Amino acid sequence: MVTQLEIKDLHASIDGKEILKGVNLAVKQGEIHALMGPNGSGKSTLAHTLLGHPKYKVTRGDILLDGESIVTDTPDKRAKKGLFLAFQYPVAVPGVTMFSFLRAAYNAVHTTDKNEAPTLFDFREAVNEKVKLLGVDESFITRYLKKVSREERRSGRRFFSSHS
Ligand SMILES: Nc1ncnc2c1ncn2[C@@H]1O[C@H](COP(=O)(O)OP(=O)(O)OP(=O)(O)O)[C@@H](O)[C@H]1O
Ligand SMILES: [Mg+2]
Repeated sequence: MVTQLEIKDLHASIDGKEILKGVNLAVKQGEIHALMGPNGSGKSTLAHTLLGHPKYKVTRGDILLDGESIVTDTPDKRAKKGLFLAFQYPVAVPGVTMFSFLRAAYNAVHTTDKNEAPTLFDFREAVNEKVKLLGVDESFITRYLKKVSREERRSGRRFFSSHS
């Protein structure tokens, strides 16, 4: 399990325009950091750069997980190492239930071999436990990924961050 994220003198550009100009930040396991700044100051740019969005180019500096650089890793590799970027506005996908989505996401991040994936029954048990823990309405899990209320959107995000 990763215990420290370190951002060192990070410079990043979009379409040749430098947005991040030397960001330094260390986040240890269990710490919560809130980044505050005016509109357009680069908060989203930093988040996208951390996850490896292809539009954002790192031109200098480094991003380290437990001392190991991840700047050349693709987003899926970064996710497997423990980074997750929540959706600000989750995408509506009619026909796909929250349960199937969570199961696919969980298996993609946590298993390399299909046979290692939790059985449907075990995964449902684990999800039910989290549903109770978070006080989410049970129907939330069987509904399609689609437009939901603000409060439900927040619950969705909490769900992801509690299910590691
Ligand atoms: N796709 C893009 N193409 C060109 N410039 C962009 C792009 N995305 C962001 N920028 C520019 O990068 C700068 C930082 O924007 P960013 O969205 O990271 O700021 P922010 O701090 O997240 O702002 P907000 O508080 O509005 O969410 C701005 O000058 C913005 O115009
Ligand atoms: Mg933003």
